[in-house]
Amino acid sequence: MAASVPSQPAPPPVASTSAIQLEPQPVSEHQKLEGHEFWDSIGRPKYVVAPMVDQSELAWRVLSRLHGATLAYTPMFHAGLFGSASHPRYAEEQFDTSPESLEGVAPYDRPLVVQFCANDKDLWLAAAKKVVGRCDAVDLNLGCPQGIAKKGRYGAFLMEEWDLIRSMISHLHTHLTIPVIAKLRVFPTLDRTLAYASHVFSSGAQLVTIHGRVREAKGRLAGFASWPKIKAVSELLGERVPVLANGGVPSAEEVEDCMEQTGTVGVMSAEGNLYNPMIFSPSNAAGGREYRLCLPADMQAALDACDAQLVGEWDRDNAAYAPSTWLASQYLAIVRTLPSTQTSPSAIKAHLFKLFRPIWATQRHLDTREMLGKAGGGRQVPYLERVQQYQDFVDEMYKKVQADLADGSLPPNSHRPLTHEEVVRDFAGVIPYSHAQPYMRVMSAEPVAEVQEDKESAKRAREEEETEVVGKA
Ligand SMILES: Cc1cc2nc3c(=O)[nH]c(=O)nc-3n(C[C@H](O)[C@H](O)[C@H](O)COP(=O)(O)O)c2cc1C
Repeated sequence: MAASVPSQPAPPPVASTSAIQLEPQPVSEHQKLEGHEFWDSIGRPKYVVAPMVDQSELAWRVLSRLHGATLAYTPMFHAGLFGSASHPRYAEEQFDTSPESLEGVAPYDRPLVVQFCANDKDLWLAAAKKVVGRCDAVDLNLGCPQGIAKKGRYGAFLMEEWDLIRSMISHLHTHLTIPVIAKLRVFPTLDRTLAYASHVFSSGAQLVTIHGRVREAKGRLAGFASWPKIKAVSELLGERVPVLANGGVPSAEEVEDCMEQTGTVGVMSAEGNLYNPMIFSPSNAAGGREYRLCLPADMQAALDACDAQLVGEWDRDNAAYAPSTWLASQYLAIVRTLPSTQTSPSAIKAHLFKLFRPIWATQRHLDTREMLGKAGGGRQVPYLERVQQYQDFVDEMYKKVQADLADGSLPPNSHRPLTHEEVVRDFAGVIPYSHAQPYMRVMSAEPVAEVQEDKESAKRAREEEETEVVGKA
C-alpha cells in the first residue's frame, strides 16, 4: 500500500533536570572551537543526514544536500582498520581523499562529520588524524546495536563501559585539532540516560546526538523513539553543547515538530532520509537550490537533464514528495559525475530498492524488482557500465509510470513533486505510489534486524530484501 501521511502523538512533559551537576570538560591542548561556537562556525545546521553504513556515502550526501540537508555524517568506519598501516586500502576505499575527490571538500561535502566505531583511544586518534582537513568533527558511534558490534566491543555495547568512553573521548578532545562528538542511545530509565549523557559531555564531547531508542529497540522491534528522553538530555546539556534529536522522524511532517518538542538544535534522519531524500526539503528547499549552484558544471548539467522528466509547475519551496524516477535519476547523475570517487554498486542498489519500494508494495511491476536485483553486474564489469545498468532500470521504471499515468492507474497531474497539502487536498491524503515516501515498519515479535550498522549485516539484509516476497511488510 502507498503510505498515508503519518503523524505522531505529542510526548508527555519530562522531569526537571536542574538538579544534575555537570562536571567540567578536560582542557584541550589545541585551540579549537567548542560547543555552540563550533556549531556557529559550521552554520548552525539543523537538518542532518545520519551516519549509515553503505548508505550515507558521498553521492547520497550530495543528493540529500540538494534537497535541504545542511549537515551530513559519513557511514561508520572502523577506527582500528582506518588508522592501521597494515590495512592501507581500508581507509582509501571508505573515504576518498585523493586531490580530485569532492569527499569532505567545501562546498560540496561540508559541513561533514566522520563517524568511527572504536574501543582504543590511540587507534581512534590515529584514524581521526587521517581525516583532519576533510571534515568538521569526528563522531564516536555509541549506538550500534548489532551482534557484530557486541562481538567487536563497540557501538551500543560500550554503554556499560563508562571508563573506556571517558578515556577515548577525553583523549581525542585533548589531542585532536578538531572537535570530537558522540551519538548515543538512551537507557530504559531517564535517570540513567541523563547520567550517561552528562558523562559523555564531561568527557569532552562538543555535540551530542541522542537516538531516543534503547539498545534492544532495533529492526522490527525498533518502535517509537522517546522524544521526552531526548528533551530531557537537551535540557541538561543544551546550554553547553548542541544536542541533536534522532529517531521518530519518518517524514517531513515531523521535522520541525521534533525540534520544537525536544528543544534540540537539529534533527538527524536515517530511514526517513533513505526512503525520501526530500525529507528536509519543505524546511530548507532554498538552501538546497543555493547548494546546487555550487556543484561542478557537469554535475549541474546532468541534474538539469533529469528535470525534463517533470511535467507542469510545482511548488519548489514546499514540495515534500517527488517521483522516485526523478530522485533516482538525480542520484545516478551525481554518481556518474563525481570526480574520482566510485560509489559502491551495493550502495546504489540498496538506495534504489528503497526509493521504488512503494511501487512494488502495491504489487505493481514486480518484474522490475527482479531487474534491479540483477543490475549492477559483477566485479569484472567496468564501473560506468555497472552504473548504466542501474540507469537502464530507472528508465524502465519511468516507462512503466508513464503507462500507469496514461491508463489512469496513477492520478492525472501527479508526475511532479507534491506538497503535503496537495497530497491531502488532491490525493485523499495518500501519496501516489510513484513517489518516494516514508516507510512505517510493522512491529513484529520476530527480531528481524533491518537497521544495519555494519557491512556484513547490510549485505545480508539486502540479499533478503532482494528475495523478499513483495508486499510482505
Ligand atoms: C542502513 C542504515 C545504516 C546505519 N548505519 C549507522 C552507522 O553507520 N552509524 C550509526 O551511528 N548509526 C547507523 N544507523 C542508525 C541511524 O544512524 C539512526 O540512528 C537510526 O536509524 C534511527 O534513526 P531513524 O529513526 O531516523 O532511522 C544506521 C541506520 C540504517 C537504516
